[in-house]
Amino acid sequence: MIAIDGPAASGKSTVARKLAKRLGFSYVNSGALYRGIAWLTSEHHIRPTDAGAVCGQMRKSVFSFDLKGKEMVFSVNGVNPEPHLRDEEVNRTVSAISAIAEVREFLVAHLRTFLTKDDLVMEGRDIGSIVFPDTPYKFYIDASLEVRAQRRAIQGQRDDLFFRDRADSSRRSSPLTIAEDAHVIDSSTLTIDGVVGEIVGRLKMQGLGEALRLD
Ligand code: DC
Repeated sequence: MIAIDGPAASGKSTVARKLAKRLGFSYVNSGALYRGIAWLTSEHHIRPTDAGAVCGQMRKSVFSFDLKGKEMVFSVNGVNPEPHLRDEEVNRTVSAISAIAEVREFLVAHLRTFLTKDDLVMEGRDIGSIVFPDTPYKFYIDASLEVRAQRRAIQGQRDDLFFRDRADSSRRSSPLTIAEDAHVIDSSTLTIDGVVGEIVGRLKMQGLGEALRLD
């Protein structure tokens, strides 16, 4: 179980997916689940700050979570929300949704079940600190706000990173923090392969080189 945390647009998704491929592990993007709940609530015209209504809708919805072709797939009430997860509305509401303790408890419980299915690279905000605090393989990927904003602009996305950073770091329930034993990588001036290389080097130092056939 390899945990990769960091703020929005730090490059962690691309890095985590590439690392999972290299190791032959499954890749799980936990943020997609928080986005899935944000999408669900916007579909039902529920205000993201109305925690009671958000949780009520979540409780009466049917979720399915699985790993397919080494990646997480999930559906809500029989619909795969993937095409909507990067919508501007979702970008705008997901921080409020992910601040709701009951939403977090629900999703964290499901995220933990993935470990019974395969070896994982899981990325998010609290993977090393809350979801899998016992894993010795924790990474925190950061980058300057300027670099992250530039990356979002290149992706053609509108995403208020400053607002999301502040909301994700200041919420009461499992805020974005750097786990004490996480290895921090500043990706501002590194390529994706550079970051993956640094993680692989660290995993080798931690004694995983032979087991994972890392050369
Ligand atoms: O990684 P991302 O930008 O797709 O995540 C979307 C939002 O979900 C982010 O603003 C905070 C929340 N999130 C979280 O609270 N905990 C996680 N483990 C992953 C994401």
